[in-house]
Amino acid sequence: MKAPLSRYEETDFDLDEQQRQFAEDVAYGLSQPEKRLPCKYIYDDVGSELFSRIMELPEYYPTQCEMEIFDTHKSDLAKIFGHTGFNIVELGAGDGQKTRVLIDELLDRTCDFTYVPLDISEAAVNGISDRFADDFPKLSINGIVSDYFEGLRWLADQNHCRNIVLFLGSTIGNFTPQGRSVFLKNLRRSINTGDLVLIGFDMVKEIDTIVRAYNDSQGVTAAFNQNILRRINSELDADFDLDNFIYYSTWDAVSRAIRSYQVSCCRQEVYVGKIGQTFEFEPWEAVHTESSHKFNEEQIATLADRNGFAIEACYTDADQYYTDCLWRAK
Ligand code: AVJ
Repeated sequence: MKAPLSRYEETDFDLDEQQRQFAEDVAYGLSQPEKRLPCKYIYDDVGSELFSRIMELPEYYPTQCEMEIFDTHKSDLAKIFGHTGFNIVELGAGDGQKTRVLIDELLDRTCDFTYVPLDISEAAVNGISDRFADDFPKLSINGIVSDYFEGLRWLADQNHCRNIVLFLGSTIGNFTPQGRSVFLKNLRRSINTGDLVLIGFDMVKEIDTIVRAYNDSQGVTAAFNQNILRRINSELDADFDLDNFIYYSTWDAVSRAIRSYQVSCCRQEVYVGKIGQTFEFEPWEAVHTESSHKFNEEQIATLADRNGFAIEACYTDADQYYTDCLWRAK
């Protein structure tokens, strides 16, 4: 836990460490010939709330598939997890909607474990902790507000007990291929041999189905994606006119990913106060905000093998749109 800031510090330093990093990443990304912003900045409290709404959308099949998989295979999973003495560490827990099914099953079996929801959004961690405490009075919960990088550092300190790491929702798809590998190696180093990791992968499939999942008719995905600009306005004193940017997403057949953008509708300048810099946008210039890679079985097998994991089991939904894969640290 961070020590509370004193009044003097609050007025003297207007950028705390996280904001400094945010400012640095924005300054760098908007200065590139092809502008881009790291997608993790979509997920503040507002962004997490909007993502909860995405999960309710009829077009957004990954959540429905993962729910189906958990419903069908919860007892298989619980059997492999075992009965005593472990942490269930969920990276990017969000509203915990999918995990609920697993927690319920484990409690039914009177398993002895602590649930550790970890998320970058404080409101998400508080929300999940409160709701789970109400719904599961016997559950031991230890919520943590942090990004994955810090989260893995926390995990590395927990090596006195067994850890089961959940990385759901196909968040793994948001990394670049290189970033994905770095993350998995880092994750492997943070746990003990024999520990388990459950990872959700959205699979390659009919392109239209995928494209529709990122272009919902209610515009929730558009608002979610634009949250990154709204956040730059509010946290870094910028003057993005949100009406002058549109959300556009497209399937990249080569990298097999949905690539999402904020596109500038006109020539415009945006001033970012806390960076002290103006950024120019040409008409129809794109800012890349997110990539959502889709996978096949062979890629999953290679990812596990190259990063120190053995595949224990893989579960898919009836349509085979999505896979939750259980890996054991080698
Ligand atoms: C939760 C990050 C995996 O990429 O599918 C949903 C985020 N973006 N709609 C995804 C998202 C647009 C989602 N992840």
